Amino acid sequence: MSESNLKDMSQLVSLAKRRGFIFQSSEIYGGLSSCWDYAPYGIELKNNIKQKWWKAMTLREDIVGIDASIFMHPQVWKASGHVDGFNDPMVDCKSCKSRFRADKIDVTAPCVVCGSKDTFTEPRDFNLMFKTQMGPVEDSSAQVYLRPETAQGIFVNFLNVQQTMRKKLPFGISQIGKAFRNEITPGNFIFRTREFEQMEMQYFIKPGTQKDAMEQWRELRFNWHLSNGIRKEKLRWYQQTGEDLAHYADAAYDLEYEYAHGWGEMEGIHSRTDFDLKTHQEHSGKNLMYTDAMDNNKKYLPYVLETSVGCDRCLLAVMSDAYRLENEGDKENERVVMKFHPSLAPVKVAVLPLVKKLEEPATKLFQDLATEFAAEYDVAGSIGKRYRRQDEIGTPFCITFDFDSLEDNAVTIRDRDSMKQERISLDKVKEYLRNGLV
Ligand code: GAP
Repeated sequence: MSESNLKDMSQLVSLAKRRGFIFQSSEIYGGLSSCWDYAPYGIELKNNIKQKWWKAMTLREDIVGIDASIFMHPQVWKASGHVDGFNDPMVDCKSCKSRFRADKIDVTAPCVVCGSKDTFTEPRDFNLMFKTQMGPVEDSSAQVYLRPETAQGIFVNFLNVQQTMRKKLPFGISQIGKAFRNEITPGNFIFRTREFEQMEMQYFIKPGTQKDAMEQWRELRFNWHLSNGIRKEKLRWYQQTGEDLAHYADAAYDLEYEYAHGWGEMEGIHSRTDFDLKTHQEHSGKNLMYTDAMDNNKKYLPYVLETSVGCDRCLLAVMSDAYRLENEGDKENERVVMKFHPSLAPVKVAVLPLVKKLEEPATKLFQDLATEFAAEYDVAGSIGKRYRRQDEIGTPFCITFDFDSLEDNAVTIRDRDSMKQERISLDKVKEYLRNGLV
């Protein structure tokens, strides 16, 4: 199979708009910078990714899921270190006032926006948490934060979950949810935004077993991305060491994908020690110790191995890897096709009557297929144009209902990737799709 030949993010941005995957937020008002809305096909794709992750990360005897509130007690963020330490160094151009992350630009070079050679301001810390007020009184006691990560909702629920679910170590808690960071320089489409979605799992383990857990989860998570159709050579590990390593971690690896703008972190696997449970125990005054019935009822704070993947960055990788521009420049045969893994494709099958006259039996077939597959029906325009539209949506199979279908009770099924067509009898269509969509 040919490989993705995406050269520039603008090709993806344009397809996402043209075909209803992702729109700019508040577009009719001129748009809101770095905020994006998932359109009908985009949300189906995103839901498929989330469901696949949820299945992989909860359909196991040792992992359960939760959905914690976005607003949390403000003390949570004091305890976690986010109030005092979740900062990026920021500089302003003295001329045009543009803001930059000091660690991402060369502060001795001219400003990339206005070209001024006048220097930048001294770097100063900028806290990335969004603040807001809870309730009708606007004073500092009502200040709350939009969570910058979902993980803390899991740590503060550790004991509740462990006791109600009667879990023994090692066990994990999974969660999918929105997170918010007031990034100084968002960009590269949905790669870095101020509102995004995380899929996180905290695996609670016996202290001393963190190295094995790290290896186990690195392998599982790498293979999960491969199962989404991502090419192996587009993935690489980056080990965080020294100053890179977060204050809570004794080891950490970023799984990077080679996006159109370059290599970037898609998922982080962090060995967080007992930092989080310890700090929440101290700040809340609640005993969060685990009693180990398998080890003489010893009491201790478990260590944590975290897997944290951005849903939007995962979707961006899936779209980037699926993109093909075939027969470029050849007017007749040029096509853009999204070769999504069948498990993720937002539409699995499209039913296309050859002409309007055949609408009635074709609609019947569509309605029957729609009970089992994400199906679409399209009668408008030439058959060639309808195929091209489905190629750009990434629909694995198109079914053409023609005049012969009325006689032979069979339809033509076109394969998205090879464009090969097969005549299949109507009573075998579902089985054909089931086999082709695995
Ligand atoms: N709980 C650990 C944690 O939040 P992180 O490395 O800061 O770790 C995890 O974030 C993942 O969340 C990243 O690998 C990335 O996929 C995603 N992410 C972080 N900031 C993001 C942003 N501004 N926009 C989109 N995704 C982001």
